[in-house]
Amino acid sequence: MKAMVQEVYGPADVLQLRDIDKPVVGDDDVLIRVRAAGVDPSVWHLMTGLPYPIRIMGFGLRTPKLRVRGWDVAGSVEAVGRNVTRFRPGDEVFGTCEGSFAEYACAHEDRLAAKPSGSTFEQAAAVPISAFTALHSLRDQGRIRRGQRVLVIGAGGGVGTYAVQLAKAVFETEVTGVCSTEKTEMVRSLGADHVIDYTRDDFAADGRRYDLILDTAGNRPLSHLRRALTPRGTLVLVGGEGGGRWLGGLHRALGALALSPFVGQNLRAPFVKEPKEDILQSLAEFLEAGSVTPVIDRTYPLSEAPDAIRHWELGHTRGKLVLTV
Ligand SMILES: NC(=O)c1ccc[n+]([C@@H]2O[C@H](COP(=O)([O-])OP(=O)(O)OC[C@H]3O[C@@H](n4cnc5c(N)ncnc54)[C@H](OP(=O)(O)O)[C@@H]3O)[C@@H](O)[C@H]2O)c1
Repeated sequence: MKAMVQEVYGPADVLQLRDIDKPVVGDDDVLIRVRAAGVDPSVWHLMTGLPYPIRIMGFGLRTPKLRVRGWDVAGSVEAVGRNVTRFRPGDEVFGTCEGSFAEYACAHEDRLAAKPSGSTFEQAAAVPISAFTALHSLRDQGRIRRGQRVLVIGAGGGVGTYAVQLAKAVFETEVTGVCSTEKTEMVRSLGADHVIDYTRDDFAADGRRYDLILDTAGNRPLSHLRRALTPRGTLVLVGGEGGGRWLGGLHRALGALALSPFVGQNLRAPFVKEPKEDILQSLAEFLEAGSVTPVIDRTYPLSEAPDAIRHWELGHTRGKLVLTV
């Protein structure tokens, strides 16, 4: 099968389209004929091996242990392992797996759900990690409640576009999105009640205070973010690119976790894992109900995965990028 393979850590050029063996389906696994694969920041981190702590976390010290990139996947079931009960060949599924930038990939059964009816493979592949990060950050970390004032920083990005829609349509809050000039209309169309163009205005300077801030971009200092938070408000940091090869954006996360016990505000910096089947099903229901619609900036063929990643590196992706396979 064709797959985007890397032998060494490095920039997007390290990804090469090669012919490799199809994965062998394990007893608890589902072999998927991949039709679309999502591109998200974790792909870049695993491609570059940065920041360095991720190498110690088990992804390979000197070279990547997993040679094929990509987590988010949508496709049809080709074969199932002997313990798999929920899927049969031909079923259309979405979820996460190791190595979705390939014609075939193996996923654990509990990392998959039926593809939302009415969604394309591209739309379904744009959902799992980013939408789950938004849902988990707002609901489980942020304890979002109806009627609250919610600020989403990075509202035009992969996580932010889902966060705005979830905060408005599912949790019924008053949503303010922060994005660049080119994305203000799009963020408004996703349901934001207010939109702040960060190239012109500072959200912490207009006196408005938020019960919940979800920060996905911009690396603003904690003091800046806390100024815009109510005295008992919650800040959830998920974003943090830049910041050097050792810490990446982790310095703010560590600062937030260290400070939180000593202040009235709740400062959180979760490490969001992959969504399991029940979460994927909830996300599918949101799509089917029309409360959430994936925003796809561009699709690229599998062979152009390096270009997709270079596009993401520019830092202004509108929603998600997706590979078609
Ligand atoms: N903690 C976890 O487990 C977890 C899980 C998933 C993702 N993440 C992290 O979450 C972050 C966001 O992920 P993503 O997929 O949404 O990335 P993304 O698609 O690249 O979106 C980031 C968005 O931020 C906007 N942006 C850039 N500079 C900004 C600024 N100064 N102020 C406000 N917005 C700005 C960009 O658009 P415009 O500038 O054009 O508005 C871009 O659309 C990444 O750092 C990722 O690593 C963490």
